[in-house]
Amino acid sequence: MKILISAEQIQDRIVDLGRRIAQDYHERAVTIVGVLTGSLIFLADLVRQLNLPLRIGLIQASSYRGAATEPGELHLAPELLPDVRGRHVLLIDDILDTGQTLSHLVAHLRSLEIASLRVGVLLRKIGRQNIPFQPDYVGFDIPNAFVVGYGLDYNDEYRHLPYIAELSNQ
Ligand code: IMP
Ligand code: MG
Repeated sequence: MKILISAEQIQDRIVDLGRRIAQDYHERAVTIVGVLTGSLIFLADLVRQLNLPLRIGLIQASSYRGAATEPGELHLAPELLPDVRGRHVLLIDDILDTGQTLSHLVAHLRSLEIASLRVGVLLRKIGRQNIPFQPDYVGFDIPNAFVVGYGLDYNDEYRHLPYIAELSNQ
């Protein structure tokens, strides 16, 4: 598989993002909400760069079923989410593709009377958003290819790779 973003590039970028996020929140307590399962590795590395009072929550959203690389129907499982009322929430996902997942999650979180909401993604695919969506923090813009690694999967494989690679031979 062709490596698009190396492990070192990812780690360097996360240090930058961590600095920016810590400056923006300015010692305010933040609840980071990670979208399972893809954000797991990004979330774990990012929070260790955040010098802020911090809580972690998780929510599950899935739109890829098994071996499909085109999004299917979105399924949200909010049971894992702690009580976020009144909190400053930073929603973290692995990748912004069509925008379906994040726009649904944003609507869901806003309905929970939170104090504020920002969104961060590791990757944003260029030219794929059919629901306009502007994240507050973006790690890397990438071309329209199906990518795996660093949390991102194909049929639940490859999440453990420390880099982002373009999936070949699907
Ligand atoms: P969206 O709802 O179309 O924006 O898709 C977002 C979700 O689809 C992400 O949270 C990923 O789980 C998954 N996804 C989108 N593109 C890729 C990819 O290239 N590789 C792996 N997963 C992807
Ligand atoms: Mg995902």
